[in-house]
Amino acid sequence: DTLRRVLQQMPKAELHIHIEGSLEPELIFALAERNGVKLPYGSVEALRAAYAFTDLQSFLDIYYAGASVLLHEQDFYDMTAAYLRRAEADNVRHTEIFFDPQTHTHRGVPMDVIINGIHRACQDSPVSATLILCFLRHLSEDDAIATLEAALPYRDQFIGVGLDSSEVGNPPEKFARVFARCRALGLHLVAHAGEEGPPAYIYTALDTLNVERIDHGVRCLEDPALTARLAKEQMALTVCPLSNIKLCVFDRMERHNLLELLDAGIVATVNSDDPAYFGGYMNDNFIATFEALPLGLSHAQRLARNSFAAAFLPAAQKQQYL
Ligand code: HPA
Ligand code: ZN
Repeated sequence: DTLRRVLQQMPKAELHIHIEGSLEPELIFALAERNGVKLPYGSVEALRAAYAFTDLQSFLDIYYAGASVLLHEQDFYDMTAAYLRRAEADNVRHTEIFFDPQTHTHRGVPMDVIINGIHRACQDSPVSATLILCFLRHLSEDDAIATLEAALPYRDQFIGVGLDSSEVGNPPEKFARVFARCRALGLHLVAHAGEEGPPAYIYTALDTLNVERIDHGVRCLEDPALTARLAKEQMALTVCPLSNIKLCVFDRMERHNLLELLDAGIVATVNSDDPAYFGGYMNDNFIATFEALPLGLSHAQRLARNSFAAAFLPAAQKQQYL
């Protein structure tokens, strides 16, 4: 129908995509073969069958195992190029891509191999694409600081930093010093908060880390004062509907709170998070959400507009979409 066509064809920005989460099972097996890496799964089908998650951690265990096939610059290039082709097909005009260097440097992959491979694929794509380096919050702040130091020779190849991995028990304030340093360096700041963690983590992401967007943030509605503040400050949330269902943040899409967030005046956006693991890319997320919730054309336009308004783009580049 027309709404579906509008969702597919409207220009959009993606602001919450982990590039390692775009690795499709077929590419994982192709890279395992190419690199002689042994996987604990016998086939593409066996790997896909393991994608039955109960919470964030049950997903992360498999996501890190999948990323173990990435060794050479060409592997990072091929992964990123495949994602960008899918994004282009979904009429994504701009994307801000998360990458997790510690997942790779801890296996002995050098920082330059990771960043150069991902960045070169971005330069070769017709889609506008920039990079956000994420620190793994289950590791120490000292490890994050060492990772930042190792990435600084490539400072011009990423625009910001984020915080991902196991949320509960690893609050934003654990990374206060490294984020202060990144802020002084002029990097953009974001953090995952309020996906599985409580509203208190959204407050400390804002007040201790000084982030400019909240990734997920859906638990903000448990705190009316926080909800009002996010709306007043026009602090964008990068919401990932299919991810939230697959990781059991909501038990089904009909119970997702995206419409309540919009109705509260919050700058919510729709994103894919880890599309190869959660059952779809950008347009799949839009379509699944609009099928389950009473959302219409005006919401589609608002979500597309929000995605560019919240993007880290020069005013001149975002103006054409607003
Ligand atoms: N949350 C936290 N860490 C992640 C996610 C997520 O949704 N995806 C990949 N790493
Ligand atoms: Zn995420």
